[in-house]
Amino acid sequence: MSQVNRAICPGTFDPVTNGHLDVIDRASALFDEIVVAVALSPDKGGGPLFELEERIAFIEQAVSSLPNVRVQPFDGLLVECAQEMDAKVIIKGLRAVTDFEREFQMAQLNYRLDKTVETMFIMSIPEYAYLSSSAVKEIARHGGSVNGLVPDAVCEALASRLHQSL
Ligand code: PNS
Repeated sequence: MSQVNRAICPGTFDPVTNGHLDVIDRASALFDEIVVAVALSPDKGGGPLFELEERIAFIEQAVSSLPNVRVQPFDGLLVECAQEMDAKVIIKGLRAVTDFEREFQMAQLNYRLDKTVETMFIMSIPEYAYLSSSAVKEIARHGGSVNGLVPDAVCEALASRLHQSL
């Protein structure tokens, strides 16, 4: 019996950026199945700007052309979500060296929690190396354009959510 080579791409995705989508796209070429696991993250940075359902919908729309990618919510420990999904690999995007310390800590802790789940990193392409959901929200909040940094639907949602024209 052949085993499905499944990986999990976790994050808060508040909102998803083109950098996230590039990592998901590249991961989908390496694994049979990718589960994009969207964390509830109620406490992150004073609470997400977008509801869980909205964050999931933005990603679902953006990955609709990738048949081996599905999106689902998660709460609690990531390794438990990976176990439930029968995913043996956690895929994380790595941008500048500033990401490394936090990602290294999370990878070590996840390994301690479950040694059967490996964390693997996909390096950001230079174009997206400094792109983050926080930066996108800050630019949008101050009326700057985030075109090309996030999907069009996210651009529009940011504009209406923040009552600004981008
Ligand atoms: O997009 P983010 O906010 O950087 O994603 C972080 C996330 C959600 C992947 C991380 O906070 C996480 O794995 N949360 C689940 C809780 C957990 O498993 N913690 C133990 C490892 S530190």
